[in-house]
Amino acid sequence: MTSYTLRRGAADKTRADVVVVGVVRTPKGLRVAEGGEPVASAYGRRLSPLLSTLGFTGRAGEIAKLPTSGTLRSPLLMLVGLGEQNPAALTPSEVRRAAGAAARALSNAASVALALPAGGPEHVRAVVEGFTLGAYTFSSYKSAAERGLPGEVVVLTPAARTKAADAALVRAEVVARATTRVRDWVNTPARDLTPESFADAVTGLATSRRSKVRVEVLDERALADGGFGGIIGVGQGSANPPRLVRLYYRPRGARTSIALVGKGITFDSGGLNIKTSTAMKGMKSDMGGAAAVVAATFAVAEMGLPVAVNCYAPMAENMVSGSATRPGDVLRMYDGQTVEVLNPDAEGRLVLGDALGLAREAGPDLIVDLATLTGAATTGLGDRVAALLGNDDALRARVLAAAAAAGEPLWPMPIAEEMPVKVRTYSKVADLMQHNVDKVGGTLYAAAFLQQFVGDTAWAHLDIAGTAYNYGAAHGHVPSGGTGYGVATLVQLALAMC
Ligand code: BES
Ligand code: ZN
Ligand code: MN
Repeated sequence: MTSYTLRRGAADKTRADVVVVGVVRTPKGLRVAEGGEPVASAYGRRLSPLLSTLGFTGRAGEIAKLPTSGTLRSPLLMLVGLGEQNPAALTPSEVRRAAGAAARALSNAASVALALPAGGPEHVRAVVEGFTLGAYTFSSYKSAAERGLPGEVVVLTPAARTKAADAALVRAEVVARATTRVRDWVNTPARDLTPESFADAVTGLATSRRSKVRVEVLDERALADGGFGGIIGVGQGSANPPRLVRLYYRPRGARTSIALVGKGITFDSGGLNIKTSTAMKGMKSDMGGAAAVVAATFAVAEMGLPVAVNCYAPMAENMVSGSATRPGDVLRMYDGQTVEVLNPDAEGRLVLGDALGLAREAGPDLIVDLATLTGAATTGLGDRVAALLGNDDALRARVLAAAAAAGEPLWPMPIAEEMPVKVRTYSKVADLMQHNVDKVGGTLYAAAFLQQFVGDTAWAHLDIAGTAYNYGAAHGHVPSGGTGYGVATLVQLALAMC
């Protein structure tokens, strides 16, 4: 376990195995960022030639390490690039990413002092979140131990010993823990994370001591009895039967209630519309939405925020077998609407339709769903920006603001008016057509389909198909593999509602 302390000390006088400072590029050359000034003065005129010898350019995430040879109390100085930004106005997101890059570059330090821009509570939070998340590794299946984490991290900040900074530290730790939990779940192979074991893991958290979250799990029988045709239809091809996990956090004095819904496909083979080997490769991550809403619910409860949360996580494995749902099958959803299945690989909307119908029934003030729903979202936005769709302008603005503050890139897309029309008119046999007959606008069509289940409730949908799992190299505080995308935004949204 790493312990974090906030301290007002100066970076050059702090003793730790490594001291980390930021470097920004300015029109006048490189400059040490806020928090690192004492290091800059300790080196004086020697610093800039040192940096050019190292070939350090200050671009975001760039790292240089140099032995201090007595110039500082710490034996090693780590410089992390913050990029082109105006040094006076580094955003928490920039700081979060730099702290993450620094954490990844550590080699076996027992203690670290972070002298990054941390003037106020939001920046303190960013430093701690970024560092913790950047240090993440998934080693459950590695025989040999990975590099150790520092036991002690000192965050140098003028805000130390203020209530706001202490609260920011606690929040950062809660968000980082929740994000870590999501990454672990997403990274766990589908062999070991089935709907049943995923539901059991969530139940374990909810029933642990001091948990303020209540849990209820519907198994395959309860789902069939309850008329959850979408979840049953997707799960029926797998030897691992589906589940629906409900979590409740009902604090006293809550003025608003949020419903969170997340796609929990523990593996997406595509079903009878079987995916290519390339497309199937990372599909253990298709439960990233469910993991994020579950972890966010526990985080909100841990912070004791006065917001009621109802969380719904439909879990199923989309497999190929003699009992799998066929193209042409018609499913009756939880809310009574019928759906013609056209493509068994468009399974997310089927489990979500049921869960959204259930969520809406409870009459929340708003619904937010997270789903690794469409590859088309990545065609539009790449794999670092999630898509935001929905039916309510005010909610959209709040979610965008929350994502910006949380450092999770999110961009709005419209539900073009023809999309719901297509959803409701294309099928000749059922109320709704599951899948877009046309090749264009897949993300929009999927959202328009989900919209059929939320009625008039204000609803936001985050398509995290690109962002939940990083197929590439680590960057900033985001590792390869499961990213935990969405937790920070959801917690921020809840914070903004109190
Ligand atoms: N889980 C996938 C979406 C996905 C794709 C997530 C790539 C992460 C990375 C989803 O169930 C799916 O298969 N979507 C299809 C579209 C559907 C309309 C057949 C897709 O994206 O190809
Ligand atoms: Zn899927
Ligand atoms: Mn699919």
